[in-house]
Amino acid sequence: MTFLQLVKSRRSVRSYDARLIKREDLEICVEAARHAPSACNSQPWKFIVIDDIAKKEVIAKNAFSGIYDMNAFVREAAAFILVVSERTKLSAWMGGKLRNTNFRRIDIGIACEHLVLQAQELGIGTCILGWFNEKKLKKILFIPASKKIELVIALGYPEQSEFPERHLKDKDEVVSFNTY
Ligand SMILES: Cc1cc2nc3c(=O)[nH]c(=O)nc-3n(C[C@H](O)[C@H](O)[C@H](O)COP(=O)(O)O)c2cc1C
Repeated sequence: MTFLQLVKSRRSVRSYDARLIKREDLEICVEAARHAPSACNSQPWKFIVIDDIAKKEVIAKNAFSGIYDMNAFVREAAAFILVVSERTKLSAWMGGKLRNTNFRRIDIGIACEHLVLQAQELGIGTCILGWFNEKKLKKILFIPASKKIELVIALGYPEQSEFPERHLKDKDEVVSFNTY
């Protein structure tokens, strides 16, 4: 499979079969994330892997209910990986301020993509989740209140192999050469 084929084959998976994911495969996924580029090589992340069945269930029940119910499908997921942002290097923080951007969040987005593509190569489906009860997650996992959980990634073996066609913006709208 070429890299582009791998990229195109990745879809957000919201339905998983009952198989669990081997710890070593989860470790490969976070290893791919750990090798992501980051501004000034700050590596401003911490990945918390949840593969304990009881803990996973507590999380699914508490952090994805109520107003977060649209993500209730995560109850079927075999594992979660939480991505917590950590301190950037001063140069990356200052550069971000001067450029009016947030390099830390960009870094974390890139790391998440490394992770989900690595999972895809292993046949593991993923869904990046930005909509969850952060307060409850922090309480369950003893994450300090001062920390920010940027994203949660749900992982599991996909139940389906066919997905509806991807709705992509027109290429001309998002790509140009040599001018805006
Ligand atoms: C930052 C971010 C947050 C997301 N949050 C959610 C979410 O809370 N629930 C969900 O079902 N999908 C979520 N998604 C998945 C997107 O809906 C999905 O990537 C998009 O619709 C494109 O579909 P595809 O991943 O199958 O290509 C999120 C994706 C990203 C990148």
